[in-house]
Amino acid sequence: MAIKHFLQFNDLNHDELAHVFERTRWIKNQFKDYQKYWPLQDRTLVMIFEKASTRTRLSFEAGMQQLGGSAIYLNTRDSQLGRGEPVEDAAQVISRMSDLVMIRTYEQEIIERFAANSRVPVINGLTNEYHPCQILADIYTYIEHRGSIKGKTVAWIGDSNNMCNTWLQAAELLDFNVHVSTPPGYEVEPERANLYGTDHFEVFADPMDAAKGADLVTTDVWTSMGFEAENEERMRDFADWQVDSDMMRVAAKDALFMHCLPAHRGEEVSAEVIDGVQSVVWDEAENRLHTQKALMEYLLLGEV
Ligand code: CP
Ligand code: NVA
Repeated sequence: MAIKHFLQFNDLNHDELAHVFERTRWIKNQFKDYQKYWPLQDRTLVMIFEKASTRTRLSFEAGMQQLGGSAIYLNTRDSQLGRGEPVEDAAQVISRMSDLVMIRTYEQEIIERFAANSRVPVINGLTNEYHPCQILADIYTYIEHRGSIKGKTVAWIGDSNNMCNTWLQAAELLDFNVHVSTPPGYEVEPERANLYGTDHFEVFADPMDAAKGADLVTTDVWTSMGFEAENEERMRDFADWQVDSDMMRVAAKDALFMHCLPAHRGEEVSAEVIDGVQSVVWDEAENRLHTQKALMEYLLLGEV
C-alpha cells in the first residue's frame, strides 16, 4: 500500500476530508464519554520540532496516548538534527523505528525531503509555507458551530503566511471563498508552485472590505516564527490590520472569530474580540486534539 503523507492540506481529497471530519466527531464523542478507544496500540509517533510549540506538541502527544500508542519528542537542540545530519539519513533511521512522524520545521522542502525517504507517513506540524493540521481543526470547528463551510466566506486579515496559504488551499478543495487583506508588500503569491488556483479567493486593499459580510473572520500573528528579525518593521506595516469590534460589526451578524494561537492582544486582534462572544478560539485549540486523532487513525489504518 502506498504511504499516505499529510504535508499539505490538499494531500487529502474532498472525500477523505469528509471521512476525517466524520471520524473526528465520533472520536471526540467517545473521548467526552470516557470511552477507551485504542486502535493504535503499540504504534509509535515521533514528533520532531525545529520551532517552539504548545498546542501542536500537546495535541499530538496526548492524542497518540489516548489512541493507545506512544509519542516520542525530538528537537533540533538535543538531537543530531541540529548538528547537520542530512534530513534524508534522519528520515531513513527515524522511520525504521516508528510508525508515524510529525515534523515542525522551516522550509516545506525539508519536510518533503524527509517524506521522500520515510517508510512511514509524515505529517506537517507547521512549515514556513503551510499549517494543514491547524486548518483541519479550524474547519471542523466551523462545521461544529455553523454546519457546512461550502459556499461560506472566510475573511483573512493580516500576513500572507502559512495559515493564509493553507486556508487558500482548503477553499479550493471544500468550495468556500477567502477574502484576503494584507498590508502592501505582504501579498499572497497565488502562482507560487501552482499550489492553489485563484477561483476561490479575492484580494481587498482595505481590511474592512475583506471582513464585510464574512461568515468567519480570522487572523494570525504579524510575525511568524523564523521571521523575528522583521518584527519591528512588521509592527509598523501591520498597524491597520487589527481585527477589532468595528471590523466584526461589518461581518455577518453570526460571524465567528478564529485565531490559531498564540495571540497578541492589541496587535493582530483586540482583547474585546478574542475574548468576546463571537470568538471560538478555545474550541478551535481543543479541536486540534480530536481532528489529529482522526488524521492519525486515517493515515495508519485507512477508512475504519
Ligand atoms: N496553533 C499552534 O500551532 O500552536 P503551537 O505553536 O503552540 O503549536
Ligand atoms: N503563523 C504562525 C503560526 C503559529 C502557530 C507561525 O508560523 O509562527
